[in-house]
Amino acid sequence: MTTSRIQGFYNLPIEERVKKLAEAAGLTTDELAALHESGLSVGQADHMVENAVGTLSLPLGIGLNFVVDGREILVPMAIEEPSVIAGASFMAKLARAGGGFFTTVSAPEMIGQMQVLDLADVHSARLALLEKRAELLAEADEIDPLLKKFGGGARDLEVRVIADSPIGPFLVVHLIYDVRDAMGANAVNTACERLAPQVEAITGGRVHLRILSNLADRRLARARCTIPVQELAFGDFSGERVRDGIIEAWAFAAADPYRAATHNKGIMNGVDAVVIATGNDWRAIEAGAHAYAARSGRYTSLSTWGKDAAGNLTGTLEVPLAVGIVGGATKVHPTAKAALKLMGVRTAAELASVIVSVGLAQNLAALRALATEGIQRGHMSLHARQVAIAAGATGEQIERLAAQLVAEKTIRIDRAEEILKSWEK
Ligand code: MEV
Repeated sequence: MTTSRIQGFYNLPIEERVKKLAEAAGLTTDELAALHESGLSVGQADHMVENAVGTLSLPLGIGLNFVVDGREILVPMAIEEPSVIAGASFMAKLARAGGGFFTTVSAPEMIGQMQVLDLADVHSARLALLEKRAELLAEADEIDPLLKKFGGGARDLEVRVIADSPIGPFLVVHLIYDVRDAMGANAVNTACERLAPQVEAITGGRVHLRILSNLADRRLARARCTIPVQELAFGDFSGERVRDGIIEAWAFAAADPYRAATHNKGIMNGVDAVVIATGNDWRAIEAGAHAYAARSGRYTSLSTWGKDAAGNLTGTLEVPLAVGIVGGATKVHPTAKAALKLMGVRTAAELASVIVSVGLAQNLAALRALATEGIQRGHMSLHARQVAIAAGATGEQIERLAAQLVAEKTIRIDRAEEILKSWEK
């Protein structure tokens, strides 16, 4: 990939966009088809879930202008909401003026939990487990030879006492497992189930639940960016005013859970769109992100915004990202495979770097709009198109009807139907 800036992409007919993509990313005909047409066949869906009857499609667009750790990346984004892809692309353009996004990703360590009940003395049981830490880790390390071959495996064992619970005290064992390029749920669940009899033998207790934790706080992805202050200026707004407005908006989310939920939702608009496009488990990512946002005991913003010594806007985002590029739908769904190829990511960590950067860009898009002209203006025309389609407009009617709804400042389905009826007459 030489550049993720494709001039005029937005204005091209969809077939032309696909051609441009093929040129820019060197995709095969099959990979292009998987991005352009519905990639997943009903037959494949039948192998993925029970009682399958079909598939559900979502719009797939390309986030442009991204530079992540010096690499130009075209980002596939699957999402039904208008303005998200445009917002991410626009903010990535502003960020590239400051060098793009700079990321770090921690080791791909997931946490498997075992709940140990029926213990006479939780404290002694805890120490008994820690005495056998090395044996337990060695045993856990043998459970997945393939993972071990690729450098993964058991890393640590932690034992916590839950003193205050409705059923009395119990123990929680955390098995820390390096899952390399997998999302890791299968590897970790298997390891916990296999280790449980030994935990019971050591403690004399009963292992009840054996399951992965979605609070993947040892598998963090972090991104930062600097937006040169002059890049923020538009219309009547000076760069300084936009910058300060963004920082004030962030302070609201940092202090208030009601605002933080919406602020983080905006981040997840970008995160989920890439997670979904690559066939990853977005519920796991959502659960992890929001639990991480509440780790201090008070739910808060996942991002920060401030200014550097030169007055430029600076942003950071830190979020758990348990995403994989092997196993599950990432390897079965043709569109997900083509999406990974498009980005040229070689590891799960590289995928996480892209995703966290998109999350930060998306957050900036929302804050910039909210801190200046408000969110509705940008939403209007795309929203109007959706309303026009919902009202029954087809072909050229869609743009014409959307334009009229925007001009009338009444983007409602009843009005859209009324206009359509008047045209039919
Ligand atoms: C809408 O999908 C997302 C926003 O509400 C995010 C935010 O308020 O920061 C615009």
